[in-house]
Amino acid sequence: MLVHMLGNPGHLDKISKIADDNDLILIEDCAQAFGAMYKGKSVGTFGKMGAFSLNVYETIIAGDGGIVVTDDVNLYKRAFAIHD
Ligand SMILES: Cc1ncc(COP(=O)(O)O)c(C=O)c1O
Repeated sequence: MLVHMLGNPGHLDKISKIADDNDLILIEDCAQAFGAMYKGKSVGTFGKMGAFSLNVYETIIAGDGGIVVTDDVNLYKRAFAIHD
């Protein structure tokens, strides 16, 4: 999991390569980097999933809860099945 901090994208090239080389799934935590971009793409769209907490300490808040983004329909279905 790559945690983007303080409104900035993390080291996406390096960490994506580590994930690819080791057959790992990359998940991005974007709670502190809503709207951050890297090479013209939004954070949260580089890995298999992006997570955006909406708790009271984050950039955009909703009291609690969060958002996940993915272009993998199976991961979407799994996330939907366990959401609360
Ligand atoms: C980067 C980051 N991810 C996740 C969390 C926690 O998210 P949640 O409370 O929705 O699990 C925080 C802070 O609370 C955070 O700063």
